[in-house]
Amino acid sequence: MLRTRFCVANWKMNFNCTDTKSFLESWNNKELNNKEVKTIFCPSFTELNTGVEILQYSDSEIGAQNVFYESNGAYTGEVSCSMLKNIGCQWVIIGHSERRSIFSETNEMVRNKLDQLISERMNPIVCIGETKTQRENGKTQEILSQQLSIAFENQEDINLKNTIIAYEPVWAIGTGITATVEMVSDAHKSIRNIFNNNGFNGSNISILYGGSVTDGNATELSELTDVDGFLVGGASLDVDKFYAIYNQL
Ligand code: 13P
Repeated sequence: MLRTRFCVANWKMNFNCTDTKSFLESWNNKELNNKEVKTIFCPSFTELNTGVEILQYSDSEIGAQNVFYESNGAYTGEVSCSMLKNIGCQWVIIGHSERRSIFSETNEMVRNKLDQLISERMNPIVCIGETKTQRENGKTQEILSQQLSIAFENQEDINLKNTIIAYEPVWAIGTGITATVEMVSDAHKSIRNIFNNNGFNGSNISILYGGSVTDGNATELSELTDVDGFLVGGASLDVDKFYAIYNQL
């Protein structure tokens, strides 16, 4: 199976409706000649609808930055899979390190979200990654393995083609410090091995790198065999920079 390559923008809590419109309208004027690469934009919940409408005739798609794992009910402030699906949003980021560290999201919660996404036939973007201390203590592999094996515990039948893993070392997010080519290569290889050791075919899964990706470092990272694209934060807020990253994939 040929793996799909992705260029995903995580806008985090930036961009209101006006910003979203102006970004995506100028994105629609760009020539997307890199046909092997799928682009996904993940705005805040309030901008999802606008994004879906603007991109309806484009090859780019819209994703959410989070979702809750129950179908409906008394969960003030939460958004369900079916609500997202209903407006045409098929992709959802789960387990982002900011959700884990600021909002106390656990591996078990990530698993519940993944279960819910799969049962609703939606496409997950599952974020994993080690902290600086974990890396310094030689725990990177162990942490990645723990995060993945808990999240994918019940998922023997998952369609890996529509599942993305984003390796985002916490210390590289928003810091301007990118992991070295060797670190990314090693981590992506070990993620594939973790899948192989858990009964999946690791070579079928698209693994993206995220963490201070810019138009200046995208080429060397995208040349790595096990890197199937990027999850971009800061640099995705500038349409020309994001387009330059897309073109380097
Ligand atoms: P930066 O690209 O700003 O480091 O953010 C990465 C990220 O968290 C994407 O999800």
